[in-house]
Amino acid sequence: MNEDYALLDHGEGRKLESFGGVIIDRPAPHAVGPRRRPERWIDAHAVFLKGEGWRRLRPFDEPWRAKIADIVFELALHAQGQVGVFPEQAPNWRWLRDMVVSADRDLTILNVFAYTGGATIAPISTGAPHRVEICHLDGAKGAVTIARRNAVLNDLGDAPVRWLTDDALTFMKREKRRGRRYDGIILDPPAFGRGADGGQWKLADSLPDLLALAADLLSERPSLLLLSWHDPVLVPARAVAMTREALTGKSISSVRELALALPCRGHESLAAGRSIRVLF
Ligand SMILES: C[S@@+](CC[C@H](N)C(=O)[O-])C[C@H]1O[C@@H](n2cnc3c(N)ncnc32)[C@H](O)[C@@H]1O
Repeated sequence: MNEDYALLDHGEGRKLESFGGVIIDRPAPHAVGPRRRPERWIDAHAVFLKGEGWRRLRPFDEPWRAKIADIVFELALHAQGQVGVFPEQAPNWRWLRDMVVSADRDLTILNVFAYTGGATIAPISTGAPHRVEICHLDGAKGAVTIARRNAVLNDLGDAPVRWLTDDALTFMKREKRRGRRYDGIILDPPAFGRGADGGQWKLADSLPDLLALAADLLSERPSLLLLSWHDPVLVPARAVAMTREALTGKSISSVRELALALPCRGHESLAAGRSIRVLF
């Protein structure tokens, strides 16, 4: 799938992955069925156990680095079993690069729920001559700090990126009032979370509002919209219908392509990395 990442095995509610040679064993609730390579699991450097957290089993340098889809990431063992990258997003990062190059013009892109910056770094690392400005936003300050460090690691510390820590919907509503518009919008919301008002965020319920706001924020000459989600409760056909409705409602008649991208090979049974890619 990509340079420094491999999904080594999965099953019995867990997955075994190699990130730049550091082997991680962590929960994957949708990985049902038996493990195919049970002998590999003994190689894990670290294992994440629900209710306990990380257990380091073999020595490795931390933080460490891994290159995924030509982007170097700083990785470490974070709370909730994350390591600082969602590798199933790699095909989207490649798509973003291709779309930026083929757009062949200056673009302003909003990336919300942006985590450690894969989808921010991809569009600004094409080497294309036109200017690509990104507004990178995440609700977690620590994630934004790592994203900035990742930009520096990729020699993009001076790229035109606004690094923001904020609630996504609050910020998007503010941008709408201010009349700010974007040629591209990237959305990778969590399945569950907390909104700015302290209320519950539940993807399947909140997605229509999020998509409607995104449609409002698209410029008069939009280029792309990318939506990803990780909640199997939201079936692809429903997400496609919601996306179409949001775009139709705002009379954006210039949709050239609306394609569903299913999980990349090996990730199908992990319910990760479903995306809708819209080109205008
Ligand atoms: C699925 S991850 C995004 C992964 C990212 N697209 C990538 O591939 O690197 C979801 C992110 O949403 C952020 N988040 C959760 N609730 C948020 C909110 N209300 N506003 C902004 N960001 C939020 C989390 O901090 C997390 O970084």
